[in-house]
Amino acid sequence: MGHKQKQQRKARGNDLGIPLKEQIKPIFKERFMEMFNQNEETYNTFEACILTPQRKSFRINSQRVQDPKQLVKDIEAKGITLSEVPWCNNAYFTEYNKEARSDLGNLYEHFMGRIYVQEATSMSPPELLEIPSKIDKNFKVLDMCSSPGSKTTQIADLMKGEGILVANELDFKRLGPLKINLERAGYTNIVITNQDASRIKGEEVYDRICCDAPCSGSGVIRKSPKTIKTYNPKKLHGMQDLQISILQRGFELLKKGGIITYSTCSMDPEENELCVQRFLDANPTAVLEQATLPGLILTNKLTHFYKREISKEITEKTIRIWPQDNDTNGFYVAKIRKSE
Ligand SMILES: C[S@@+](CC[C@H](N)C(=O)[O-])C[C@H]1O[C@@H](n2cnc3c(N)ncnc32)[C@H](O)[C@@H]1O
Repeated sequence: MGHKQKQQRKARGNDLGIPLKEQIKPIFKERFMEMFNQNEETYNTFEACILTPQRKSFRINSQRVQDPKQLVKDIEAKGITLSEVPWCNNAYFTEYNKEARSDLGNLYEHFMGRIYVQEATSMSPPELLEIPSKIDKNFKVLDMCSSPGSKTTQIADLMKGEGILVANELDFKRLGPLKINLERAGYTNIVITNQDASRIKGEEVYDRICCDAPCSGSGVIRKSPKTIKTYNPKKLHGMQDLQISILQRGFELLKKGGIITYSTCSMDPEENELCVQRFLDANPTAVLEQATLPGLILTNKLTHFYKREISKEITEKTIRIWPQDNDTNGFYVAKIRKSE
């Protein structure tokens, strides 16, 4: 077995001879069965999906690529078949043909910042931010938790390099990858800051804010199978407090009429619908807007979780992406406007 195969096997959790499926904890199954209304068939479809590796995808950097069609041809010529991500312009899912030699991260196009390798569901918050097609030089966007910079670079792309984009990240060690990714993408309107997002200083100055909160990561098991072993719902209430504190500060920094997206790569209701519910209850000027993305299949919307009712508004207006529906990771996003 080659080094790469060994690494892949290790990453999929069966390095100790224990198949990943057998590492699923009873509490994991119990909670997801509850989310699927005790429907075993749906749970089994979900489980089978999360035990397979994630489909890779990327976005074209429109600042560096004049002819996206040619770039698509160039990449397909390397033995990678592409299909469009329906909810994001100039973004593609990849399928490797047998003769393909290169991983996306090894492509010339990646090194030159012509593409950004990004999971397709992670592309949803920037698409919901309604970034105007013509940007005023005073237009300000804040990305509160930004490393490694997937959404930052996507927002910068939508801003066409105009206005000001602040990319904040608390973890000093994660500033390195963020900086490298932003440099590679080549935008000149981004400022990096290193603050706790729940305490960012300032006033209501931002037109748009992306709050892509730290979370348990239960939606990204396909990318990071070890999450199966570390899954622990006891940590979720503490997580929700942190998420609320960041979202609350973001909302305070948002201009009246501005939009903030709240997102996680978790499937756990405490970090998603129940977190948004708590935030809306405490903020009468926060208006939940309908989040809609083209071509996204959405099933099994959450109406309750154990004894907790979820308001119809939250069920209908926010987006819960199950991995099995679009062959992606799991993701959650809500779009909130500050009333005038
Ligand atoms: C989900 S990841 C962000 C992914 C990023 N938005 C992207 O699309 O590439 C969450 C990030 O929040 C950072 N973080 C955790 N606590 C934070 C805090 N209090 N303030 C700011 N960032 C924080 C983590 O270090 C992590 O980089």
